[in-house]
Amino acid sequence: MNLPSKVRLREVSTRDGFQSLQEFIPTEEKLEIIEAIAKAGVKEIETTSFVSPRAIPHLRDATELMSRVPRAGIGHAALVPNLKGAKYAINAGVDQLVVVISATEAHNQENLWRSIGESLADLDNIFKLARDKSIAVTGAIAVSFGCPYQGDVPEQDVLTLVEAYISRGAAMVILADTTGMATPTRVGKMVRQFRSAFPNTDLALHFHNNRGTAMANLVAGLMAEATIFDTALGGIGGCPYVPQAAGNLPTEDVVFMLEDMGVDTEIDLEAVIRAAQLLEKILGYTLPGQVMKSGPRDPKLAAKICGFGHNP
Ligand code: COA
Ligand code: ZN
Repeated sequence: MNLPSKVRLREVSTRDGFQSLQEFIPTEEKLEIIEAIAKAGVKEIETTSFVSPRAIPHLRDATELMSRVPRAGIGHAALVPNLKGAKYAINAGVDQLVVVISATEAHNQENLWRSIGESLADLDNIFKLARDKSIAVTGAIAVSFGCPYQGDVPEQDVLTLVEAYISRGAAMVILADTTGMATPTRVGKMVRQFRSAFPNTDLALHFHNNRGTAMANLVAGLMAEATIFDTALGGIGGCPYVPQAAGNLPTEDVVFMLEDMGVDTEIDLEAVIRAAQLLEKILGYTLPGQVMKSGPRDPKLAAKICGFGHNP
């Protein structure tokens, strides 16, 4: 297999993971998680969203959280749905904005309460504001591989939005499979198209596991030379505006698999498993991640970390 020698993982558990929970996670506990992730070697975190506190009450502490996060060696991104969010995020000291628009009208209306045209009309102001403050902007495209309302999404619709972001100065684009509709062939094709049309722009892939394809999609992305992936501790996450939302790729499962395949993540497996276990303790229910339950390949280490005997 011809694979990249290293990848970048963007941790999204405290944003995508926390946005759709039943209960508010206190800021202190969010900080504990962020510190544990940082200790494991994660350098890019999508820390929170600057959104209407009525729409997403779980992230209403975004400004306070940003004032208390560890900074050394870590880039903190925040999702913003509009200019108002961009202003709040910049004032709160984020390192990077992630603007989101859906590839379909139906999902954009449901998620952002406006048309794609209205979202696009906000972009110039958001990019200008960010440029004035030297803050990088990443453009995220929700439902890039399929929409829960519309079904198939023409690739051209996605590429048109990519172009809209890049022409305004986006340094990176995230193609999000918000509802787990991607399959490896779709991913491979999309990544190759992106790479040939926009060779100078970073591409990140964001997969949900609604249909069990997330890890296969990651491998397909890798084989097409994608090197940036969104993952969430324990595999938590999901869009609140998607029926049967399922989690992101579990960070520790991705670290386990990629490191064994010779792809460097710069993340310590034991520390990231322990961070996922801490998250599970805080949330109080079993998380979807697998490696946090089964442990690394070394039976003794697995027994130590996961608390079971190593003689099967
Ligand atoms: N940060 C904080 N408050 C915001 C905000 C933001 N980015 N955007 C809007 N608001 C506030 C408005 O000021 C308004 O408050 P008010 O009633 O006290 O004046 C309230 O939210 C609703 O605003 P409204 O004008 O009715 O709608 P809107 O178009 O401004 O906001 C959204 C709609 C989509 C921005 C809002 O519902 C939202 O933030 N949704 C979250 C989307 C999301 O994160 N989805 C999942 C991730 S992809
Ligand atoms: Zn997501």
